[in-house]
Amino acid sequence: MLLGISAGIAAYKSAQLARLLKQAGCEVRVVMTEGAQAFIAPLTLQALTGEAVRTSLLDPEAEAGMGHIELARWADTILIAPGTADLMARLALGIADDLLTTLCLASEAERIMAPAMNQAMWRHPATQRNAACLQQDGWRLLGPESGEQACGDTGPGRMLEPEAIMAELATLSSAAHLARQAHEPEQQTQLPAQGLHIAITAGPTREPLDPVRYLSNHSSGKMGYALAAVATELGAQVTLISGPVSLPTPEGVTRIDVETAVEMHATSRRLASECDLFIGCAAVADYRAEAPAEHKIKKRVDEDGLTLKLIKNPDIIADITAMRDAAGGRPFVVGFAAETRDLESYARDKLERKRLDMIVANNVATQGLGFGADHNAALLLWRDGDGEGGEDLPPQPKRELARMIIDRALACLNTRPVH
Ligand code: C5P
Repeated sequence: MLLGISAGIAAYKSAQLARLLKQAGCEVRVVMTEGAQAFIAPLTLQALTGEAVRTSLLDPEAEAGMGHIELARWADTILIAPGTADLMARLALGIADDLLTTLCLASEAERIMAPAMNQAMWRHPATQRNAACLQQDGWRLLGPESGEQACGDTGPGRMLEPEAIMAELATLSSAAHLARQAHEPEQQTQLPAQGLHIAITAGPTREPLDPVRYLSNHSSGKMGYALAAVATELGAQVTLISGPVSLPTPEGVTRIDVETAVEMHATSRRLASECDLFIGCAAVADYRAEAPAEHKIKKRVDEDGLTLKLIKNPDIIADITAMRDAAGGRPFVVGFAAETRDLESYARDKLERKRLDMIVANNVATQGLGFGADHNAALLLWRDGDGEGGEDLPPQPKRELARMIIDRALACLNTRPVH
C-alpha cells in the first residue's frame, strides 16, 4: 500500500491510518508532498511504518534504493489521504511535477483517495469537475464528509476518519483482504452474522397526489444503506427494501425498490416472515392521499386554497411485531425514532407501543447530524432475554454507528427467547 499524504490539516490523521494499515498486515510505504511535511513530520510516518518516507522525486539517494518507477510498480494500491484540491487538480490534468503525482501517473495500481479541504473549495465547480474526472479515470473517492471544519466552516470537506477509511477499504477489491483483517478480525473464523437473513427498510416513501406530484420527506437513506453494508460484511444475507434514494446498492446486498408506504408494507411483510432480524430504518410517510387524482390537479383561479384529504398509512414495523409465524416466532425488530425533543421518553413510548425489541433514537434537531448528514448520534434502548438495556452512542460516521447498532442487535438476538 502506497500511502500518499498531501498538504491538509487532516494529515495528522494519516499517522493513525498508517498504523491501522500496518495492523491489517499491509506493507506500507509513505510518500508525502512538500506541503504535507508542514503538517506532520516524515519521521512520525517512518516510525509507524518502519520504512523511510519518500518526499522528493529528485533525491539521488532514495532513487538509488528504489527508483520511482519501481515504487510505482511495487504498489498494489495507492491510497491518498488527505487529498487536497490542488492535488486533485494536478492528478486530473495528468501533471507529474512531484514524486506523488509522478507515481500516480506511472502506476497501474488501484487508486483511492480521501479528499479533504475547506467546504467552499470542495463545492467549487473546478473541484467538482476534477473529482468527476478522477472518478472517470478510475479513482475511488472516499468522502469527504460534512461537518465542522478546522477553519471554522461547516459543510462538506472533512476527511473520512481513519477507521471509516479502513471500513471502506474492506469493501474494495484488491485492498479488501488486507483491510478486512483489521476491521473484522472475526472473519478468520465464523462471521458474527453468518447464516442470518436481515431485512432493512431505508429512505423515504413517496405518496402520490396526482401523476406528477407527491408527498415525501428529507430522508437520504444513508443510515439504512450503511446498516445494509455493515450487515453484509458481517456475513448476513441482506435484503434492502428501499424508498427512492440516490445511493448505490452496497456490494452483496439484494435491493428491492418501492415507492409508497403501502408497497413498502407489502414487501416488508413478505420478507419479515422469512428473516431473523428486521430493521425499520425508513422514514415512512404517516399519511397518503385518500384518492390520488387520475390527472394533474389544475390550479383553480377562483379559489385561494386546496384541501387534500389524507388517510393513515399502515404502520409497517408495528404490523411486523404483531406477526407470528407457524412456529409462533417473529423476527427481532429494530425501529428508529427521529425526534426533535424529549428523545428518551418518546423513544421509550415507541418501543412499548410498537412492541419493538430495540429502538435507535436520533435527535434530528442537532445541526450536522441525522437527516441527509454523514454523521449521527443515537440513544439505543432494547429488551432482550437479559431484560432491558440502554446505551448512548456519540456522534460518529453513520457507517460506524451502523456497526454498533448491528453488533448490539446481534448480541440481543443471541440472548432472546423465542417470541
Ligand atoms: O414515524 P415513527 O416515528 O413512528 O417511526 C418509528 C419507526 O417506525 C421507524 O423505525 C419507522 O421506520 C417505522 N415506521 C413504519 N411504518 C410507518 C411509520 C413508521 O414501519 N408507517
